[in-house]
Amino acid sequence: MSSQQVVLHEFDPKDMPFRRLGPSGLRVPVFSLGGWLTLGGSVVGDPVKDIIKTAFDAGINMFDTAEAYAAGKSELEMGRVIKELGLRRTDLVITTKLFWGLRKGPNDSGLSRKHIIEGTQESLARLGVDYVDVIFAHRSDNTVSMEETVRAFNYIIEKGWAFYWATSEWSAREIEEAFHVANKLNLMGPIAEQCQHNMFHRERPEKEYDPLYRKYGLGTTTWSSLASGLLTGKYNDGIPEGSRFATTAMFKSTVESLQKEEGLEKIRKVKELTKLAADELQTTPAALALAWVAKNPNTSTVILGATSPEQLTENLKALEVLPRLTDEIMEKIEAILDNKPPPPTNYGRPPLDRLGRL
Ligand SMILES: NC(=O)c1ccc[n+]([C@@H]2O[C@H](COP(=O)([O-])OP(=O)(O)OC[C@H]3O[C@@H](n4cnc5c(N)ncnc54)[C@H](OP(=O)(O)O)[C@@H]3O)[C@@H](O)[C@H]2O)c1
Repeated sequence: MSSQQVVLHEFDPKDMPFRRLGPSGLRVPVFSLGGWLTLGGSVVGDPVKDIIKTAFDAGINMFDTAEAYAAGKSELEMGRVIKELGLRRTDLVITTKLFWGLRKGPNDSGLSRKHIIEGTQESLARLGVDYVDVIFAHRSDNTVSMEETVRAFNYIIEKGWAFYWATSEWSAREIEEAFHVANKLNLMGPIAEQCQHNMFHRERPEKEYDPLYRKYGLGTTTWSSLASGLLTGKYNDGIPEGSRFATTAMFKSTVESLQKEEGLEKIRKVKELTKLAADELQTTPAALALAWVAKNPNTSTVILGATSPEQLTENLKALEVLPRLTDEIMEKIEAILDNKPPPPTNYGRPPLDRLGRL
């Protein structure tokens, strides 16, 4: 792709802030775009192009996908659109993820050396690119030794098929093990964790991983930061036709839970957040929820999901909200959420970061 590519669209970062992805030198936009269930799934053809173009024109140059998304069609659609829009490869940060594979054979999934190498080659072919910037282990695989997995991701990097590797939904213990094995072998460890982080899902990103941020400078690329749309307020009065909860079978239990106490409590909080967003910030609950995740000092990028350019444009209002999240507003949000994970116990010793700062 790189040598004969025709560049039609120059990248303009506009006002998008960029952050380093964990300890690496790679800079990522605070808001990026992902393709789970959407690109190549519920959205195909020209609308995929409209969404990616809207993102790119707004300063988003990072696109996330996975081998398993829409059974490979997400990578195919993303690759097609990047080519058709004439985006310069070096302008882009493309990330994909391996684990589930596309076939049922015993070696078609997981984190063995065989699947990591073959899976990467197949993903690159679907995307139509020579390399991705970051390759993620989409889940951990406790049937494979950590040494085999760490060595295989480093092989991918040595080959130039990816610049960095990272994890997704690994436990803190597993990430620690990866760092220890990588250090012992003088190899590269993971630079980031792709974790669910939103106002209703906080324990793992805010508490369990806390030592990893300070010890290793681990970055995060957060997912479902709108809790699949719940935090937009669209489910406050039922399940709208055509929405993710209406069209995707895996959300059956989520929909059922919205009728029960726990779900009703979430809806009550979304309504309060909606009022806070309107009264104090003249914005939408979606923009507030996304800015809130971006405000977390350990967040590198919030991966947005959208089924239309309009949703994406609305969500990018979070860029205006982010600098306006004062301590006072953050406290009001905490009072509504009432779910802040307790900080780790230090027995009176103040925590220091890896540079020895308070
Ligand atoms: N590593 C992992 O295991 C993992 C898991 C999940 C996701 N991810 C990544 O994270 C990305 C984002 O996750 P996500 O799609 O779950 O994020 P999300 O922001 O929580 O949900 C996005 C969905 O909410 C609805 N929505 C978004 N903005 C809206 C708005 N302004 N108004 C009304 N509805 C709106 C849309 O669905 P409808 O229009 O269909 O209702 C949209 O597809 C994924 O694309 C993927 O790259 C990673």
